[in-house]
Amino acid sequence: MPTGFTPRTEWPDAPRPLVRAVERALATTVVGIEAVHGGMSPGPAAVLSLDDGRQVFAKAVAAQQSAKAHALYAREAEVLPRLPADVPHARLVTHVVRDDWIVIVTDAASGAAVGPPWRSQHVAATTDAVAVLSAHTDVDGLAPAVDRLPTLDGWELLAERPDAGNVLDGWERDRIHTLVAMSRGWRTWTAGSHAVHLDVRCDNVVEHDDGVWLVDWAHAASGAKWLDAACLAADVVACGHVGGEAVALRAATGILAGLPFEAKRFVVAMTGMFRHNSLREPVSTAPTLRAWQADRARSLRPLVETLVTR
Ligand SMILES: Nc1ncnc2c1ncn2[C@@H]1O[C@H](COP(=O)(O)OP(=O)(O)O)[C@@H](O)[C@H]1O
Ligand SMILES: [Mg+2]
Repeated sequence: MPTGFTPRTEWPDAPRPLVRAVERALATTVVGIEAVHGGMSPGPAAVLSLDDGRQVFAKAVAAQQSAKAHALYAREAEVLPRLPADVPHARLVTHVVRDDWIVIVTDAASGAAVGPPWRSQHVAATTDAVAVLSAHTDVDGLAPAVDRLPTLDGWELLAERPDAGNVLDGWERDRIHTLVAMSRGWRTWTAGSHAVHLDVRCDNVVEHDDGVWLVDWAHAASGAKWLDAACLAADVVACGHVGGEAVALRAATGILAGLPFEAKRFVVAMTGMFRHNSLREPVSTAPTLRAWQADRARSLRPLVETLVTR
């Protein structure tokens, strides 16, 4: 499992009545389980082989494991049926809610998550996928981006801390006013009517046939057209490229060069969010989250350096 992801429980440990309920919903039985590791939820995920010959992907979580993940899965179950047919995604097969569990079952991809690290062909395929998605406007049932994005005031919140002088490193201290100014107003300039995924990362893109599928749709929203391309650019740097740091940085700056200035502001603001959140109290249901956020803020620095001049 790549570092930073949440350890998942296993499908065979899921309650039997839950598995039976999934089998009833699928009208067949599960005959094979191939566990999937990675992702951000603590519940089991697996590609299930079914007695009728189908393969499906299933992920499950109990509210007791993580109320947040449970709520996100419920939201994803609402979003998936609303996605336009041409958007490359794993279609919802069924979802099951039983006791405090929720299970999402989708088509199984022919491959696995595209990274980390990224490869150029996956960056290109993901660029195409998010372009298809964002060409759709006013998709029914998608919330405004501002309701789905994390709070992006991280630099400002850091700057306001009484111990800011100790918490910020020298590079950040020298540029904190610019970092705050670039982030400001994100609630306005991320708004729009375009369909966006908002969680484009290499663990939420899976290889399928000769392309990719976007998966994990809980954060999907209506927003500015460039949002997912900006997320992609940031993730290529944060997760790395198989060709090395310079290649990752070139890919990201290349993507951002074709986007409005707000996309650069967004990357700066996202980095501030990771940096700020990494210093918050640990989350017991996601024990690696804070370290992951710290690592993302650190690894995004070379990209932010290209976007911020003193
Ligand atoms: N349809 C699918 N087919 C095969 N593997 C998938 C599919 N969807 C997701 N995965 C894999 O399972 C992992 C977890 O799924 P994801 O939907 O991202 O859940 P989480 O909420 O835990 O992040 C992904 O990182 C990916 O590796
Ligand atoms: Mg995921």
